[in-house]
Amino acid sequence: MAILPIRSRSYYICMDKGRQSRIRRLPASRVAFFVIFALSLTSVLLAWVRYSSLLTHWKMWSRGPVYDSFIRPSAEDATANTTIRPIKSHLRIPDACLDHWVSYGRWDGSCAGVPIQESTIDLVYIWVNGSDKYHAESRQDVLASLKISAADSRFREHDELRYSLRSAFKNLGHWKNSAWHVVTADVPTHGPFQGDAQRLGLVPQWLDVDRARIGGVNGEPPIYLYHDSEVFRYTSSPGHTPTVEEVNKWRQSVLPTFNSMAVESQLPHLDPESVSENIIYLNDDQFFMLPFPSSAFHSPLYGPVFRLVTGFMVQGNPSGEGDSGGEWRSLGWSSHVLDQRFGIRARAYVAHNARSFSLPLLHEAALTFGDAFALTPMSRFRGSHSVSGEYEINTIYLATHFVMERHREALLWSWVVGKWGGMGDGGGVLDRNTKDGMWAEIGGRHGEEEVKMRRSSGRTTNEDVAFNMRSAGLAQPRSEDPEKQANTTYLFVSNDGFTPNYMSRPEEATISRNDCMGSETETAWAVFRRLAAEKPHCGDAVIALLANAAPNGLSIFLPPPSPSSSSSDIPMPAVLPLIMPSSPPPLPQNSRAFALRLIHRYAYTIAETPSEFFGVETGEQAMWYLSWVRPDTALLCVNDDLADDAWNVTQGSAQLQQWFQSKWPDKLAYEI
Ligand SMILES: *[C@@H]1O[C@H](CO)[C@@H](O)[C@H](O)[C@H]1NC(C)=O
Ligand SMILES: *[C@@H]1O[C@H](CO)[C@@H](O)[C@H](O)[C@H]1NC(C)=O
Ligand SMILES: *[C@@H]1O[C@H](CO)[C@@H](O)[C@H](O)[C@H]1NC(C)=O
Ligand SMILES: *[C@@H]1O[C@H](CO)[C@@H](O)[C@H](O)[C@H]1NC(C)=O
Repeated sequence: MAILPIRSRSYYICMDKGRQSRIRRLPASRVAFFVIFALSLTSVLLAWVRYSSLLTHWKMWSRGPVYDSFIRPSAEDATANTTIRPIKSHLRIPDACLDHWVSYGRWDGSCAGVPIQESTIDLVYIWVNGSDKYHAESRQDVLASLKISAADSRFREHDELRYSLRSAFKNLGHWKNSAWHVVTADVPTHGPFQGDAQRLGLVPQWLDVDRARIGGVNGEPPIYLYHDSEVFRYTSSPGHTPTVEEVNKWRQSVLPTFNSMAVESQLPHLDPESVSENIIYLNDDQFFMLPFPSSAFHSPLYGPVFRLVTGFMVQGNPSGEGDSGGEWRSLGWSSHVLDQRFGIRARAYVAHNARSFSLPLLHEAALTFGDAFALTPMSRFRGSHSVSGEYEINTIYLATHFVMERHREALLWSWVVGKWGGMGDGGGVLDRNTKDGMWAEIGGRHGEEEVKMRRSSGRTTNEDVAFNMRSAGLAQPRSEDPEKQANTTYLFVSNDGFTPNYMSRPEEATISRNDCMGSETETAWAVFRRLAAEKPHCGDAVIALLANAAPNGLSIFLPPPSPSSSSSDIPMPAVLPLIMPSSPPPLPQNSRAFALRLIHRYAYTIAETPSEFFGVETGEQAMWYLSWVRPDTALLCVNDDLADDAWNVTQGSAQLQQWFQSKWPDKLAYEI
């Protein structure tokens, strides 16, 4: 066994923090970087020579696996940072341009000539080597202490990570300033420095960690390793500050973990100093098959790009009865958690392939549902913790819908509270007259109880996307030649409002005055709460009817401009409370500027890209599937469902690796 020296590690952590400035913005400083690197390597070697025990490990280097030694953070440091973060790339959009963009959905007018860059996107993987001796030992210990068993197949690997990274370099290698991050499991230390805080992180044995951290000579992005015990952070309900005892108790009951869902629930706490705010989250069995423009995943105009399976709608289910070994229980539970906050509805499954996220919004989701996130890793193995109400949430599913719900909430807040609530003298109160005005704006006639929309007016989304990307100088998500470049189609953009079917703009909507608006005087906040969460069908109809009034943009939702339409007099970031309070928070000084920043914060896109997901049960089947992959397939997931017998496993593994190797034969520069 060889242990990567601690000194080199802390040195690198410190470089991590400086990465933004050192590597991203000043590539010229790489020379200086190498000099410092060489110096530090020398000091590390000197340190080694002084510690004979470490020297022993050095001698054993060639014989055993390499680990990444690190010290677990203190309890204080293992508490989540509860500061809601701004989205930096949005701050670069000037107020006048943002006003024009949100209002009209066109990148012209005051946006013409505004410099805008392709999103910087990092890849985030979670990975474990189930064949590692110490990992297997630790797994058996925890299984025995919990008196349960778990299938080994979850911990098998066929060198997928290596090939997934090769596929990423081949197809995303042209992206600027991208970095790759791999979160791996860790095991108790073995050797001279025993102690609770000292841990060994698993390292892919084919990876030269030292070289990986500075990037490859062919332009391969740097790879940074993190480990479970290093990234886990305790979240509690908003407003509660946890004690050190609480954090320690939590850590003891959740770590070490053998549950990928538990690790996913902690991705919100990746250090924003070293991980870009736009990420793609992947499992190692997911591959890029064709070159992609970054707008297939993120753009500063349209936000993260979600791919949803609309044929698979998930209802809230708090019973815990769904299959806990797969995703069912967590999906039903997550939908239930969302229902409690945003109102009851069925929500589309998120396609099981490379997934786009905004790191600040992922973090905001974890703070909003702090308790549910903290309870998720109580299942040390998938589905192992079965206490009612303490099930795992499905981070990806929950966070994706969180963004869409927050955007919807932002639109309703803007129209009800910002625009109409701001009109009367009373400030924030809607009387019968004001409600008549609102009713007229959604198309209701005086004295009529219902508004019906049939056949929506043409919105020009697809033409607009092409125009706006061109105008902003960003690559088009669509491809002229789908067998040469991934062809992504934006089906729905949040600039069109909200879509309850997660597929396209609503074609029809009906709203009843009595049910949704009423006529009595009440606070704007009360009406907002009703439309947003208590009666979601009312909010959906209001958004559909208002969005229908114009071919593009959201100007009808916005409060009127105030004399000083600047974001300097609003809090940054502009956000609504995480928990919906029963009484209204104070109105921002400049409602329009606030609404614009708020709405754009949660901008998102629903898109489709040719993708495949295979659950492979035998080697034969693997080859059969893979021979049928269509040439325009851009995203591929090959899930190991191999039958647990030795023959199938050996055979299947060999077939998969052979196919991976034929597909991506070129080594990355930092492969050993
Ligand atoms: C918490 O996050 C904010 C925003 O990213 C940052 O400014 C602050 O320094 C962080 N606090 C700690 C204790 O890390
Ligand atoms: C996984 O662990 C086994 C046993 O230590 C080792 O032989 C193998 O190389 C490891 N695989 C990777 C990808 O690190
Ligand atoms: C790209 O995909 C869209 C939606 O599936 C399709 O309509 C379009 O024809 C495709 N582009 C090409 C060039 O085939
Ligand atoms: C391999 O798996 C298949 C499908 O699960 C099964 O029918 C077959 O019996 C397995 N082969 C062996 C040798 O166990």
